[in-house]
Amino acid sequence: MSENCPKGEDTLLANYENGSSSTSVLDPKLIQKLIHSCNEAKRAAHCPYSKFRVGAALLGKDGRIFLGCNVENACYTLGICAERTAIQNAVSEGCKEFTAIAVATDVETEFISPCGACRQVMREFGTEWEVFLTKPSGAYQQTTLHHLLPMSFGPEKLTI
Ligand code: THU
Repeated sequence: MSENCPKGEDTLLANYENGSSSTSVLDPKLIQKLIHSCNEAKRAAHCPYSKFRVGAALLGKDGRIFLGCNVENACYTLGICAERTAIQNAVSEGCKEFTAIAVATDVETEFISPCGACRQVMREFGTEWEVFLTKPSGAYQQTTLHHLLPMSFGPEKLTI
């Protein structure tokens, strides 16, 4: 268990080495598949400016896995993160309900977490997702979108 875990949040933010059991509702083999998939997605990253490769693997409730990588642009502000690429990809393919997302970078010294913009875009499609932050070694940290974006604003608030 993570020594970074605040008391009482162990099930919301927990670290796992490759192969150790987790509190996820997902089958361990599916978790491993997601982790493998986000690393595959990372290979396609277009990041000539930051050189910071990111890959995401998004699990639809229908079982499909959608991939995304960061796609940067010479006009820097137009770059898009891997998580949002995966979501655009999924929605374009008719999937809007998600169970989990796994994110890979090349950083081995800490777990990299989705940026604020990506958290809000994920939130559009629910709060109950599991989020797996991974290291190249295969170690991962398991959390939830609700934990990453508490007290969030979402579509159901737009009742007139
Ligand atoms: N990036 C992502 O793709 N996802 C994140 O959660 C954090 C940052 C990308 C954006 C940019 O291409 C590069 O990483 C450096 O910020």
